[in-house]
Amino acid sequence: MNSEQLKKQVAEAALAYINDYDMVIGIGTGSTVNQLIDLLPQVKNRIEAVVSSSEASTERLEALGFNVKALNQTGDLSLYIDGADECDAHNRLIKGGGGALTREKIIAAASKQFVCIIDESKCVDLLGAFPLPIEVLPMARSFVARQMVKLGGQPIYREGFVTDEGNQIIDIHNLKILDPVELELKINQIPGVVTNGLFAGRKADVTLIAQNDGTVRTQ
Ligand code: A5P
Repeated sequence: MNSEQLKKQVAEAALAYINDYDMVIGIGTGSTVNQLIDLLPQVKNRIEAVVSSSEASTERLEALGFNVKALNQTGDLSLYIDGADECDAHNRLIKGGGGALTREKIIAAASKQFVCIIDESKCVDLLGAFPLPIEVLPMARSFVARQMVKLGGQPIYREGFVTDEGNQIIDIHNLKILDPVELELKINQIPGVVTNGLFAGRKADVTLIAQNDGTVRTQ
């Protein structure tokens, strides 16, 4: 199976979690989620409204006629479905390759169940081979980068990219993330950091993993 087929397959499996009526669900960002959005019309009668983690997903959802609401207009969500860039055996994630990490982290925190959808190429023993994105206030970019060097990383500024919140991203290479919960908290303490892409404190509750043999594994 090619990469797009795997994404479609795992997106199809995620539809089973949209299993009630009048649901208000969170929808993430990225190419795997785009496959899910394209399938959502199949379960439209169960979805009252959607909270989206990016302008890109909002545009796609609205084009299909979904009612996209701000999180401030809803209570906590019953379900959030999103992709990831890396996932370990404990459903701890690196996210933010698409730059939507801040809204993603907020929606994940505000959701009772977080279902992550990936293909098996994203499963790792140790998080950190994928560069860890950090969203920073623009004036703090170099300062945060220097702090990340002290933590053993190699920061690369994502040039020309501005987040939906108007901030910048640095991607931290070469981190060996032995304790993702501790590192997530430590990075959050650096002044100027808006969000880091470790989803370890609030990790996925369930990860659906599309495998090359055509099956979807639940972790
Ligand atoms: C968006 O900011 C990310 O967190 C995505 O969820 C992640 O990068 C996965 O994207 P793909 O499904 O495109 O690999």
